Parts: sequence; C-alpha cells; structure tokens
Amino acid sequence: MSAVEVTFLPDGQRLRVPAGRRILGVVLAAGRPIGRSCRGAGICLACGVWVEGPLSPVAADEAALIARRSGPTARGPARWRIACLARIEGDVRIGTDYW
Ligand code: FES
Repeated sequence: MSAVEVTFLPDGQRLRVPAGRRILGVVLAAGRPIGRSCRGAGICLACGVWVEGPLSPVAADEAALIARRSGPTARGPARWRIACLARIEGDVRIGTDYW
C-alpha cells in the first residue's frame, strides 16, 4: 500500500503513513490529543477534525454524525470529518480547534 503524507496544522508536524489508515489512529500515533469518548465506536462525535485532502467518501454512519454537529462543517477547503471513521487516501492536512 502506498504511503501518504499527513501534515498537522497549525505547526506543520509531518508524518508518513500507509494510505487507508483511519485518521484517529494517525493522530494518536503522532502523539496528539483528540476527543474519543466512545473509543472509536463512531457514536460520540468527539473526534471531529478539520481535514483538507483526499479521504474516504462519507458513509452513512459518518454522515449521520456530521449532521448532528451544531457548528459549520466546512471551513475554506477543509471539511469537518469524524476521525474514527474517515480513512486517509492521499496527502492531507489535519487540524483541530484545540491543537
Ligand atoms: S471516537 Fe467517538 S465518534 Fe469517533
């Protein structure tokens, strides 16, 4: 499987990972904090992050969670995605409001 580059915003930390990994695992591998009350079960909404770049399509379970968000789900080119459900498919930039 090909490797992709993940850049964490705003500081620019970079990590190369195999394509297809879920965002949550990559964030944890980078040593960054991330909400995960349901421990990746896809029910709590706590792991939402801003992502620019190619990810897996939004499946029905992720769409249902995103629809529960009270704030915006787009910020310029970035989209708000659920880290325990979305998979990284190419070079991406990831940020949160608390890093
Ligand atoms: S960790 Fe709960 S929805 Fe992702």
